[in-house]
Amino acid sequence: MSENPAPGRFTDAVAVITGASSGMGLATARRWVADGGRVALGDIDTSGLDRLAEEFGKAAVTLRCDVTSEDDQKALVDAALSGFGKVDAAVACPAIGGPNAIVNMPLDEWRRVLDVTLTGVMLTFKHAGRVMRDGGAMAAIASVNATMPGRGFAAYNSAKAGVTMLTQVAAMELAPRGIRVNGVAPGLTQTPMAQPAIDDPDTLGDWKANTPLGRYGDPAEVAAVICWLLSREASYITGETVFVDGGTHTMRLPDMARGVEYSVV
Ligand SMILES: NC(=O)c1ccc[n+]([C@@H]2O[C@H](COP(=O)([O-])OP(=O)(O)OC[C@H]3O[C@@H](n4cnc5c(N)ncnc54)[C@H](O)[C@@H]3O)[C@@H](O)[C@H]2O)c1
Repeated sequence: MSENPAPGRFTDAVAVITGASSGMGLATARRWVADGGRVALGDIDTSGLDRLAEEFGKAAVTLRCDVTSEDDQKALVDAALSGFGKVDAAVACPAIGGPNAIVNMPLDEWRRVLDVTLTGVMLTFKHAGRVMRDGGAMAAIASVNATMPGRGFAAYNSAKAGVTMLTQVAAMELAPRGIRVNGVAPGLTQTPMAQPAIDDPDTLGDWKANTPLGRYGDPAEVAAVICWLLSREASYITGETVFVDGGTHTMRLPDMARGVEYSVV
């Protein structure tokens, strides 16, 4: 996973990445910088951002950015412009959403999941799209859950389905400026978000049984596809969401909501 087959392909290119402190956002930042680029990194986890500032040095600017805040998203893009003078790419990563039954869903919980997981992507596309140079590219992280229904995840799955649609609409709207917009749909990938599922033998067994490649993914494998979609190698691809899931989408979505109560409580 540590090999770097494209050194220099992003030389002087500037990417804005939200949710960069952990998991796939972090892996994408590492890959972008390893391939020669510079990054403006946002997250609500500021201690993670401090570690990244140290790791990347002059190749990064970091800023606390809650993706649900329009002011924060604009400030992150402005930090890229003031730090590096331009924006070539943007990657929208964060999502939240634990299991709950629809009949027991507090409205605030539903709204919070959609706010972070769907509206957050829209705000990244909006503010990066307003300043991005013509010919740039954007990416969003969706999920296999965008197309594979799973009980207990009404809010998260609906938001992820929205992300794939938003990606297509953004691709249409930004194409006249030569800006491509794509997404990735990861399956189970080893990040802090997925660790509880990986640590549960029943859940992990279900995933392996329903994943033709028989394992979970590494964040670097997802970052590699994101960076490829953002690169000139993918110059004729837009509006696409690529499964990076070991083939899970060909089988059945494992049950991630064991123990959830589906009767009215
Ligand atoms: N890990 C998986 O198995 C998996 C599978 C499919 C899709 N995904 C998707 O991948 C994306 C990245 O998740 P991950 O697995 O790398 O998780 P992660 O928990 O490792 O990283 C998520 C990051 O987002 C940040 N974040 C959370 N809320 C935020 C907010 N409001 N504003 C800004 N930053 C915020 C967190 O602080 C964290 O740094 C998510 O969209 C997730 O839904 C993950």
